[in-house]
Amino acid sequence: MIAEVAGVLASSKSAIAFTGAGISAESGVPTFRGRDGLWKRYRPEELATPEAFRTNPKLVWEFYKWRIKKILEAKPNPAHYSLVELEKMGILKAVITQNVDDLHREAGTKNLLELHGNIFRVRCTSCNYKEYLKESGRIEEVLQEDIPRCPKCGAYLRPDVVWFGEPLPEEVLSKAFKLAETADVVIVVGTSGVVYPAAYIPYIVKENNGTVIEINVQESGITPIADFFLRGKAGVILPKLVDEVRRIIE
Ligand code: OAD
Ligand code: ZN
Repeated sequence: MIAEVAGVLASSKSAIAFTGAGISAESGVPTFRGRDGLWKRYRPEELATPEAFRTNPKLVWEFYKWRIKKILEAKPNPAHYSLVELEKMGILKAVITQNVDDLHREAGTKNLLELHGNIFRVRCTSCNYKEYLKESGRIEEVLQEDIPRCPKCGAYLRPDVVWFGEPLPEEVLSKAFKLAETADVVIVVGTSGVVYPAAYIPYIVKENNGTVIEINVQESGITPIADFFLRGKAGVILPKLVDEVRRIIE
């Protein structure tokens, strides 16, 4: 089946990828709904909310500092690099990710849409202050604070990520939907496909007569509309797929 899927990709004109936590699993980043998704006794749904931050900002920051540390130890894996390869070959037009771990950018993806924000960005809960910690060089400083504060106004900073019950960044979402409307192929990698509106992306591609290729270790909310389901680890399947595509186009 990989050869057939490679053929579809090789002849595509406007392919996009839609990724979730599963693409970073082999990098050691815990997924949300997997066995390793719990921090202490909490599910992410209990801590990644505005309510949790209002009642216990210290606990929520503790959770995010733990995630930031985990992610700092992680490196992109062959799945991330395969998507970079496909972009360089001119096949992949964009990567739309639900991940906040920055690993697509670290790997070298150029056209990246982050639907749920980025864990290395912080923003003020009061003024319009924003900071990308990888650029400002303040990661360590922030990790040492109980509740990091805004350098401009002194209010609490929060991770610039989307929490449960919050809207997605409007501009990013509308760009993603537009890409999905015109995509002839979407490669869906490592997502349970149950969190909306992000999970609409493959459905929009399908509605517009695009082909849905899914890579996952198990079936997901997207599998019912997948034209091709490649079962296995993203870091194993994607490099094989890229090899096949290269064979076809070279
Ligand atoms: P989930 O944890 O819900 O799903 C991870 C998916 O990856 C599952 O379908 C796994 O089967 C699959 N998977 C695990 N290891 C894999 C591997 N090595 N190769 C391929 N697939 C693998 O994560 P998401 O679908 O990303 O939202 O979750 C969606 C959103 O819910 C997240 O962005 C986050 C979360 O709560 C917000 O924070 C707003
Ligand atoms: Zn401020």
